[in-house]
Amino acid sequence: MNTTIVIYGSSTGTCEAIAEKIAQKLGCEVMNVQGLSADVVNNHQNLILGTSTWGAGELQDDWYDGLKVLQGAELSGKTFALFGCGDCESYGDTFVGGLGELYNGIKGCGAKIVGAVETDGYTFDDSEAVVDGKFVGLPLDDINEDDKTDTRIEAWIADILPDL
Ligand SMILES: Cc1cc2nc3c(=O)[nH]c(=O)nc-3n(C[C@H](O)[C@H](O)[C@H](O)COP(=O)(O)O)c2cc1C
Repeated sequence: MNTTIVIYGSSTGTCEAIAEKIAQKLGCEVMNVQGLSADVVNNHQNLILGTSTWGAGELQDDWYDGLKVLQGAELSGKTFALFGCGDCESYGDTFVGGLGELYNGIKGCGAKIVGAVETDGYTFDDSEAVVDGKFVGLPLDDINEDDKTDTRIEAWIADILPDL
């Protein structure tokens, strides 16, 4: 059961397009978090979770129910990798905060979380997604830095692949 799935929450399609790109590169399934169920969690070993950020550093809306599904499932022994979409120019104080909220929602559930990313190369003032000096997953700013998205995804996939 060493299967991988990408699960995303997206309000206007940015995180959805990124999720599809990541899934295509990994050759794995992709689904909207609106369809997340305990069966989906149980049937996959590796879960790659993506959220955009809304409000002031908050999760994409559909993830609030999605997190409840995850928190009600048996996660020990599973591997998670997280990515987040944001806007570092308009929301530099809460850059990819949703990524941090996703991390806070699953940390301590017994799962392994891989794919932390250095803050070098990102311009922002503050982020809940930075823990111990690193982003807890892959931050992407497809609004201002779409030219960097593909390179960032490639490097991140190379980093997480040995753990999947
Ligand atoms: C009202 C509003 C609030 C936002 N708040 C944040 C924020 O706090 N931090 C951030 O990094 N991006 C923020 N963003 C940017 C979105 O996360 C970004 O546009 C993202 O690509 C949207 O992805 P989606 O279409 O997949 O939902 C905000 C955007 C809007 C319109």
